[in-house]
Amino acid sequence: MNQDPEKLLEQLSLEEKASLVSGTDFWYTTAIECLDIPSLNLTDGPAGLRKQAGDSDALGLNKSVEAINFPAANLIACSFDRKALQELGERLGNAAQSEDVSILLGPGINIKRSPLAGRNFEFFSEDPYLTGELGAAYVKGVQNKGVGVSLKHFVANNRENQRFTVSSNIEERPLREIYLHAFETIVKDAHPYTIMCSYNPLNGVLNAQNRTLLTDILRNEWGFDGIVLSDWGAVADSAASVQAGMDLEMPGKGKASQQAVVEAVQNNQLAVEDLDNSVLRILKLIQQLTDNAQTDPSYDKEKQHELARVLASNSMVLLKNDEQVLPIKEDDSLLVVGELADNPRSQGGGSSHVNAYKVSSPLENIQSGHSNVHFEQGYHLDQTADKNLSSKALEAAKKADKVVLFAGFPESLESEGFDKDSLLLPENQNRLIQEISQVNDNVVVVLQNGSVVAMPWIHQVKTILETYLAGETVGEATWDVLKGTVNPSGKLAETFPQRVEDNPTALTFNASTIDENYREGLFVGYRYYDKKKLAPLFPFGHGLSYTTFAYQDLTVEEKENNFILTVTLSNTGKVAGSEVVQVYISNQTSNIEKPEKELKQFEKVYLEPNETKKVKIVLDDSAFMWYNVDKKDWQIDDGSYLVQVGSSSADIRLTQEVTIQKGTKTHPEVTSDTYIADIMKRDDLKDLIATTEFGKTLNNLIGDDSNSKMLENIPLRAAEMMGFSPAQVKAFIDKANEK
Ligand code: BGC
Repeated sequence: MNQDPEKLLEQLSLEEKASLVSGTDFWYTTAIECLDIPSLNLTDGPAGLRKQAGDSDALGLNKSVEAINFPAANLIACSFDRKALQELGERLGNAAQSEDVSILLGPGINIKRSPLAGRNFEFFSEDPYLTGELGAAYVKGVQNKGVGVSLKHFVANNRENQRFTVSSNIEERPLREIYLHAFETIVKDAHPYTIMCSYNPLNGVLNAQNRTLLTDILRNEWGFDGIVLSDWGAVADSAASVQAGMDLEMPGKGKASQQAVVEAVQNNQLAVEDLDNSVLRILKLIQQLTDNAQTDPSYDKEKQHELARVLASNSMVLLKNDEQVLPIKEDDSLLVVGELADNPRSQGGGSSHVNAYKVSSPLENIQSGHSNVHFEQGYHLDQTADKNLSSKALEAAKKADKVVLFAGFPESLESEGFDKDSLLLPENQNRLIQEISQVNDNVVVVLQNGSVVAMPWIHQVKTILETYLAGETVGEATWDVLKGTVNPSGKLAETFPQRVEDNPTALTFNASTIDENYREGLFVGYRYYDKKKLAPLFPFGHGLSYTTFAYQDLTVEEKENNFILTVTLSNTGKVAGSEVVQVYISNQTSNIEKPEKELKQFEKVYLEPNETKKVKIVLDDSAFMWYNVDKKDWQIDDGSYLVQVGSSSADIRLTQEVTIQKGTKTHPEVTSDTYIADIMKRDDLKDLIATTEFGKTLNNLIGDDSNSKMLENIPLRAAEMMGFSPAQVKAFIDKANEK
């Protein structure tokens, strides 16, 4: 594109402008050849390229060009490793450049609100901070290579059933603090070229037509200067979408979309300025991406395959390992069980489905890496009962030192496009795990799954390795961890509840086909289990290692507006390994609904055996903020906060209190509606209470009277009931507010 976008805009007819704001087909923007405006290619997806050369679709039905299939977001998030995510992004950027792809449709950063949501495998976490950090690193990686991303799906696309129409009904604080938060972080920190607007309405307004969301919040508040494109088929009214700030309808309804926009301008239903704004943004993006085209876009698939293996093995989560059944020892006789050992489930179904370069088999890797291995299929993945298969596996299990049993969900039960209704593995697999654990004491369950699994057999097996959807190197990566070549260091990015009924959305998820009511508010994931003191099966942030780590000497120092934490971390075991130091903040101060604690920093640290490192972590203001709906702004309150450092959300090793003295005063104005209890609690009013007549009398009245609680629950305007005159009350209020 040779001309300046502003100049080009002046030369475009209304029809040409309208043609630019919708796609020309499934994967391309519209070109205008006479003005030398090229079209851009947009391609899925988050875990590898899904570039369709022939028949096209948005659901992963038709084959795409061969590409490296990296670990899905559910697994890579467990790395808690920003560098790994940036590296992944860069490799995807290389692949996109080599296939002439301008925009990669990812990462998916929706919050995992319900463990039953069908698309959880494509998203990182239940926690907005972790999602924002990992997403920003991924975006920087891709865009470093001159390829744009599409941050998706904006916003609150947290269920699959009726995903085009069901309204996500959310109050503003959880919307800001949980669902918009990661988008905000990534927009501000990594400047994604595009954002994909999701299918669903938010509080009754279709996201693709929501001007508050797409213009006021995204552009005016956060400063987003890229383009908003629609999820495939999300637009109901093309002109209303342009009016709201949605720039590019994908794939578009061909002439019908263009005609609708032209007519809306002609009928004064759509301001031509709104259309011009979108067109200009699209032209600028085309210019930016054609300028970015690299001269040497070649990439080495073998090297990328090796990287995928490292990413996968460094993310796998060792959930349980009693009596150190893992790692496998050289002289262990092994029985490998499960169709998934030989025919692994390595990726999710739907639009992210990649035509993988080469998928490795865990079984083959175990057989070539270990001398004493026997295999039994044990069950059919399609759930057909087969007594013969399970009996053979049981007999073999009696003779083996250890059984490595591969279990998981088939794609028919877990994919984009529909939600699950159970966390239970197929019945034939659960039964087999139970039966085998009765005849063998050393059962290792290796899980391949999109999201949380219920484990009725948890106490019967000693070891569980969570490998989620590991990508095409599932075979090598799983064996790397089983035998200990790689010491597991992944941490859960979502909570595993004991039962599906324990999860905070159990009462509301998929309850209606029209409304999805987010009644749990802020209490998503560990924020809920913490508050309810409900022990999960495995907590957020949990993951074991083949070594052990000791945490000591937490110090917190205030420096230039930040808090600098140092903690001494030692590897106290016999093998090298990495630990994710997690920092949670517990707000002791603000008088608002609040979680017990929230993740606000993390750092992955590698240590040789007996090595000790001083880990330094910086906490800035954002670690202490909450969203004040009345002020429509983020706020920090003066007062006390606990800095909690640990190895998981349920394994806090060190705590230190810090005091903030730079934010908003916590104490509201004293008015006639202020309760005596709130006055008595306030340190800053202690003097006043001790020295004034009003205060002294109050103290005496309340004293250790058995009715003190009742008296304290009276507001100042009713203090006459305690014998005060209105003048005394007024004088006290005036003095209290002088403070
Ligand atoms: C999905 C998007 C995807 C698009 C294009 C939609 O169905 O929701 O995530 O990028 O299709 O394949």
